[in-house]
Amino acid sequence: MQTNVFKINPEDIDMSLLKHAASILRSGGLVAFPTETVYGLGANALDAKAVEKIFTAKGRPSTNPIIVHVASVSAAQELLSQWPAVAQKLADRFWPGPLSIALPKSSHIPDIVTAGGPTVAIRIPSHPVARALLELVGVPIAAPSANLSMEISPTLAVHVLKGLDGKIDAIIDGGSCPGGIESTVITLATDPPTLLRPGLITLRALESAIGKVQSKSHSQKSQNSSEEIAQSPGMMDRHYAPRAGLEVTESNGASRVHALTSAGLRIGWLKFGDELDGKLDGEFNKGETALTINMPTVPEGYAARIYAALHEMDEFGVDHIVAELPPNTDDWVGVLDRLKRAVH
Ligand code: TXA
Ligand code: MG
Repeated sequence: MQTNVFKINPEDIDMSLLKHAASILRSGGLVAFPTETVYGLGANALDAKAVEKIFTAKGRPSTNPIIVHVASVSAAQELLSQWPAVAQKLADRFWPGPLSIALPKSSHIPDIVTAGGPTVAIRIPSHPVARALLELVGVPIAAPSANLSMEISPTLAVHVLKGLDGKIDAIIDGGSCPGGIESTVITLATDPPTLLRPGLITLRALESAIGKVQSKSHSQKSQNSSEEIAQSPGMMDRHYAPRAGLEVTESNGASRVHALTSAGLRIGWLKFGDELDGKLDGEFNKGETALTINMPTVPEGYAARIYAALHEMDEFGVDHIVAELPPNTDDWVGVLDRLKRAVH
């Protein structure tokens, strides 16, 4: 299969190109598209055969449910058997935007989308290309991140092609995704609601909208891990790992990086908060044996850069990555979660 690339400027959308992408989706094909978080790999969520192609292209286990993207709250309601007041509060506050809300599904949603589970996770994306596409397609779009299973999410079209070229019908290249990490996932099927995957919308922000939210982030999971994986496989260890091994350090990584490069290894170094910071936000220096990236020191900036930085390190062919950890505060939970998952 040839993967067509449609280049679309999010600030000046070429509707004829987008119509073409929409028609591929309507006829059961797979189209990758930019969102405000990461690139998604879209299929018509109401077409079980089309959704099955997503699992095949990604090599995704059939036990991992897929987020459904819609254009409006009424479109979300059609896919759900309940719309409680808490859901309305969350939608009012955070949609369109990077929050996926899981609720009991209606019979419209094929079982393959939810991995046979009783709930479906839904969001209204805010990215102008994603929104225009949803309007044109006129059906909900099931879309996981557009990467091979177990690899890191794409924030640029080239990252998508790296894993999926020749396996999907088309990709809409809308430039880089501003958010950079996947949406926050919350389920309203528990009381109180449970944060399943942290993201740029923080626990504190969720609680300020709806009151108590329990957190089952990956670092705090209980002994019964197989049950939790079934509930949200996004909490699996190593779900978002670069090809090279990654280690994190709470202190300055200089001596560790020096020791590793002295031993002849090519090292990727994600620096945090040294004196260069602020001047060299997100830029990198290529040496012979180390690729150093000075990561931004605000969570939104760090998140926007992290996956691209890891893709660059894979590209450079590092043997190992050393990442200096950002502070352990509420604002950083989403980023810390992705760094910890990348450790292996
Ligand atoms: O930002 C995002 O969420 C991106 C863009 C494309 O929207 N999508 C994304 O999808 O990250 P994916 O499949 O890579 O991650 C979805 C996560 C997985 O951890 C999955 O287990 C969880 O959401 N999930 C999906 N449906 C669920 C459900 N009904 N209940 C609990 N967790 C669910
Ligand atoms: Mg993913």
